[in-house]
Amino acid sequence: MKRFSKITGTGGYLPKKLLTNHDLEQMVDTSDEWIFTRTGIKQRHIADESETTCDLAEHAAKDALAAAGIKAQDLDLIIVATTTPDKIFPSTACLLQKRLDNHGAAAFDVQAVCSGFLYALGVADNFIRAGSAKNALIVGAETLSRILNWQDRDTCVLFGDGAGAVVLQESQKPGIMSTHLHADGAHEELLHVPGGISRNKMLLEEAGGFVHMSGNEVFKMAVNTLGQIVDETLKYNNIEKSAIDWLVPHQANVRIIRATAKKLAMPMEHVVVTVERHGNTSAASVPLALNEAVRDGRIKPGQTVLMEAFGGGFTWGSALVKI
Ligand code: ACO
Repeated sequence: MKRFSKITGTGGYLPKKLLTNHDLEQMVDTSDEWIFTRTGIKQRHIADESETTCDLAEHAAKDALAAAGIKAQDLDLIIVATTTPDKIFPSTACLLQKRLDNHGAAAFDVQAVCSGFLYALGVADNFIRAGSAKNALIVGAETLSRILNWQDRDTCVLFGDGAGAVVLQESQKPGIMSTHLHADGAHEELLHVPGGISRNKMLLEEAGGFVHMSGNEVFKMAVNTLGQIVDETLKYNNIEKSAIDWLVPHQANVRIIRATAKKLAMPMEHVVVTVERHGNTSAASVPLALNEAVRDGRIKPGQTVLMEAFGGGFTWGSALVKI
């Protein structure tokens, strides 16, 4: 029997606290007009001091499990994509497993920054196709606010916190039609948090613990690379652009999203855009956007969805999915 995987439930969670562009005007030399024109962002959600990445992940995971109609005890694979884990170890996936009262599933984190969810989805799809798992939970969860320098207007206006999740189950029909994952570590310094555990033991409070980004270079790389991965995905599946019903892109910047939509000749009404309200939530952005459009009925069963992301590493990836 040929095995495939299928998304059977989605979930999402955003912290209650909102930070608007007008709030940021009081914190750094910026304006609502600059932020909105350059990025499409109006507001973002920020985790409360007591809330951790695992807390956000737990809400999104429970939501996705309820939607799929399965118990946490039935999971045999849990993957959390995050750049902002609660602890150095155990992994956030193991912390989440404890919260869900699951014992025995394989559980690990994936670190591919903004592409993390697509990396985790690709790994889980391959586990299921190989017969190594039947019921997987994949979560993208971030508290990016904890690694931002709130005095640096180049970066602090761009990001937000949140979590999105999917349940992926074995199926006789696809489901996930293909995933495509890539990286090129050569561009490390264009987008990074220089501090680390092994290299220089920098504490997060020091400048090395914050996101540093050469926005302009990253922007150009993102537009070109996402264009290429769209072509790769269409070619691999031997389908035309017109076969795609929805684009669910990583939400970093609405100008990058528009460029990818143009490449696909996709009208913006068929692109799920949350960046205005969420900012860039890194690994959480794609599953949060997917969850929103599935729950509000825009994305319907049987439709074909292209998800894509680009992020630190550089890493990039895509997934073509039948819902
Ligand atoms: N408010 C006001 N002015 C600002 C701000 C701000 N918040 N930030 C920068 N500026 C200024 C700059 O100092 C510069 O001024 P200057 O011309 O006097 O030097 C001017 O605005 C233009 O700056 P640019 O960086 O050229 O602006 P750009 O149009 O490139 O937009 C942005 C910047 C929004 C960061 C864009 O480059 C971008 O979105 N880059 C890609 C981000 C991304 O996709 N990241 C990948 C995923 S993130 C991850 O993986 C963690």
